Amino acid sequence: MNSKSPSFDFPDIDRTKLPSHVAIIMDGNGRWAKKRLLNRIKGHEKGADTVRTVVRTCREIGIPNLTLYAFSTENWQRPRTEIQALMNLLIQFLDSELKEMMDNNIRLDAIGQIERLPEKVQQALRRNMDVTRKNDGMRLILALSYGSRSEIVQMVQKLALKASKGEIEPEAITSEIVSQYLDTREIPDPDLLIRTSGELRISNFLLWQIAYTEIYITDTLWPDFGRDELLHILSVYQQRERRYGKVAEGE
Ligand code: IPE
Ligand code: IPE
Ligand code: MG
Repeated sequence: MNSKSPSFDFPDIDRTKLPSHVAIIMDGNGRWAKKRLLNRIKGHEKGADTVRTVVRTCREIGIPNLTLYAFSTENWQRPRTEIQALMNLLIQFLDSELKEMMDNNIRLDAIGQIERLPEKVQQALRRNMDVTRKNDGMRLILALSYGSRSEIVQMVQKLALKASKGEIEPEAITSEIVSQYLDTREIPDPDLLIRTSGELRISNFLLWQIAYTEIYITDTLWPDFGRDELLHILSVYQQRERRYGKVAEGE
């Protein structure tokens, strides 16, 4: 495959070295609104437009898996009105993007405590996941009511139950088996994690899965994030040397 082939319109990106999974902590909607003396909800509305741009761009580039952290287990502690606005935006997004997902061969998936979401959100999610389940151009994974510690606790509970029933020997539990008992079982670990808005933390996102993920944190607020910056980050990612604890090549 020629990385400079004319059908691939991204001159700074090597298509043979694309991350197979990009995960994004979409942060800064509130600050974006505050800077403009607007209600935080306006920031979330603008943030939803960025989601559309980023999904489209990743699909065009050919990223196979994209996970977006949209709502954390801790976000349930926000004011009720803000939670409601976020849930409504989510329904709007699922309704308005279904056609685009079909047109662009995108499969939708979700990780997190989906059963805690309002019934209407669950219905829209189920519908989109069901309708798009045969699409294989890109997998879009929404992390909703997602918390990595809760995901890990559930995995431990399931494995402990199996062990107590004699269905698995404790010594037979490997990293691979642990991965198979997480919500992300079908998805490779992220190669690249992006966080917008400059906070230097993980906020309970994919703790197990990011063991060797490359991290990029930008000060840009999520509503201001877009195609050009994403392309820049991908080109920076491609210049990094991933050593996985080994010595650098040639040393
Ligand atoms: C990210 O933006 C969206 C969610 C967490 C749902 P925030 O709402 O956290 O924005 P800031 O961090 O307050 O600026
Ligand atoms: C992380 O952002 C969660 C999502 C982006 C959904 P938060 O704004 O909730 O994280 P903290 O509070 O800054 O750690
Ligand atoms: Mg935040």
